[in-house]
Amino acid sequence: MTKKILVTGGTGYIGSHTVVELHNAGYDVIIVDDLSNSSADVLDSIEEISGKRPEFEQFNLADTAKTDDFFNRNQDVDAIIHFAASKAVGESVEKPLHYYRNNLVSLINILECQRKYKIANIVFSSSCTVYGQPDKLPVTEDTPRQDAESPYGNTKRVNEDILHDSVKAYPELQAIALRYFNPIGAHPTALIGELPLGVPQNLVPFITQTAAGIREKLSVFGDDYDTADGSAIRDYINVVDLAKAHVIAIKRLLESKNKAGYEVFNLGTGNGYSVLQIVKGFEKATGVKLNYQIVPRREGDIEKIWADTTYANEELGWKAEKELEETLLSAWNWEKRLRNIQ
Ligand code: WQD
Repeated sequence: MTKKILVTGGTGYIGSHTVVELHNAGYDVIIVDDLSNSSADVLDSIEEISGKRPEFEQFNLADTAKTDDFFNRNQDVDAIIHFAASKAVGESVEKPLHYYRNNLVSLINILECQRKYKIANIVFSSSCTVYGQPDKLPVTEDTPRQDAESPYGNTKRVNEDILHDSVKAYPELQAIALRYFNPIGAHPTALIGELPLGVPQNLVPFITQTAAGIREKLSVFGDDYDTADGSAIRDYINVVDLAKAHVIAIKRLLESKNKAGYEVFNLGTGNGYSVLQIVKGFEKATGVKLNYQIVPRREGDIEKIWADTTYANEELGWKAEKELEETLLSAWNWEKRLRNIQ
């Protein structure tokens, strides 16, 4: 019997790449997404890439009645991957109540439905933002979490606590939280990728839009950090490598017969690159010269973080494989296709 996975936020950036990998691994998928930050056109692309079309329902999971009705009609779901959330760091500072309601109530609704309809397994999309600026690098999963710089980051930390406390209280549940470092790149077909609405907040989409002439120049936020070239360091992970880790996490839960409890894994490459190294890497990978300027630091940014990936490598048997330049080129190919650039 083919297992059926609910992917919330499945028309989004990481969600859509994960749906493709779930299909490739033989799972059936149903997506719930409110399309507030993505387009239903992604369903066509997922079908074109994987040869299979996911089921799809549009509603917001913070709506308790709609969420219960969905699960009542879909009690054959075997596991859940929960991506659906508001995710713009800057916007969360301006609209904290929207972020707390959307990101916390949706998870609580899902967990209550899991108990009611006996769905044991959930994989949660968390973030390295829960570490704040770690004292020791590379950062391991047992590094104490710090107060986040933003309501967005705080919702990730509180969501992890909601999951952990729920698994402790309700033994019929089991959960895996995946702490992403910086997801970048696009599917090799260039049929799906990152589609930020408005001005991109994240580095790589801003780079590709600058290269496409949509943005006049990239602003590098600070070159006075305590790093080799002064710009901040992050662990940039290919989105397809990231998606594959979710398939492994789902398999782990489905096979663990409720023994998994609550587990946390860092999903990074283990390598840190500075902003200026990413700029140079993009120019080298694509042959496109980037117009950029150095400006003061962005409020709330940390200086440097990269993952210790030993636990995920050994326990999940997962490792990021794609090289940085291949990943940056995939982001550029996606941008070119999006803007009909040859
Ligand atoms: C990366 C680096 C910037 C834009 C956040 C969230 C994380 C996840 C990813 C959602 C930093 C610099 C950026 C620009 C720049 N969010 N930068 N010019 O802030 O590490 O992580 O986004 O899933 O949870 O915390 O990612 O891509 O915004 O920034 O110089 O125009 O690039 O200062 O050093 P960040 P980012």
